[in-house]
Amino acid sequence: MNQDLETDYIVRINMEEIDPRKASVSIFDHGFLFGDSIYEVVRTVNGKPYAWKEHLKRLRGSCRSINLELPWTDEDLQRDVDTAIASKRWDGETYIRLIITRGAGQIDLMPRTCKNPNLIVIAKELPELRARLHEIGLVLCVTEVKRNSRLAMDPAIKSGNYLNNVLALIEARGKGADDSIMLNENDHLTECSTSNFFLVKDGGVKTPSLDCGILAGIIREKIIGIALSEGIPIEETSLTLDDLRSADEVFITGTVKGVVPVNRIIGQVEWEGEPGAITEQLREAFYVSSGM
Ligand code: PDD
Repeated sequence: MNQDLETDYIVRINMEEIDPRKASVSIFDHGFLFGDSIYEVVRTVNGKPYAWKEHLKRLRGSCRSINLELPWTDEDLQRDVDTAIASKRWDGETYIRLIITRGAGQIDLMPRTCKNPNLIVIAKELPELRARLHEIGLVLCVTEVKRNSRLAMDPAIKSGNYLNNVLALIEARGKGADDSIMLNENDHLTECSTSNFFLVKDGGVKTPSLDCGILAGIIREKIIGIALSEGIPIEETSLTLDDLRSADEVFITGTVKGVVPVNRIIGQVEWEGEPGAITEQLREAFYVSSGM
């Protein structure tokens, strides 16, 4: 870590601002020991958290799924995030990572000794998207690493246990791609390491349905809404490698990346394409409606 920590980050732990160079949680926190935590990544638009209500709802859902009871109200969480944003020392928009860990306890998988969850808010300047990605698109790799089964570690839970995605990304980068696209145990397409996946075929848009085992992405939901309102056919369904081979356009979505075209896919499939007209239409409509 570098000496710019102090200026580059705002850190709040349990609602108190902490010097980022000294910010720490216990090594007995089950978030550290077992990945027993949940998180959200939110970004601002014009200084306000974008789609805050949706993030809060997903956060509450993740907490319910792991039986983590929060001592904080929605207002508490919003105030804490707003305070972090207000303390910023940069000009641009803000990236906010809101983490809730199980808290410190005995070395025992059962969380019964963890009495107090920790609430951590880390804010930094939102990274500018590299122009290359937006103009020419990125390269995905269909990795050998598969997405966790919904029956094992449901990808709908935005948990701090991202080892599955880390392994897929390491494989993808090792093969020269920007990101992975993972299959599920039925060899259906799921999602990328931190983004949702879409393809365009014959003027219609298709994206893996939630039951394929993906995170219910907030930008994914916005794109589905925009496609409906623009009269572009949209289907949430199961997609195979054959669907990918015959796709006309491919793009991915996420809070940090926005909507990004894909120009090449490697790994278990070889596909090449241009950022296409439908991707461009959806991207444009999304940026206009979100104010990004
Ligand atoms: N990731 N799928 C996965 C596995 C993700 O981690 C994310 C978000 C998405 C897109 O969701 P949304 O549209 O709500 O950002 C899909 C965040 C940005 C991250 O971990 O950095």
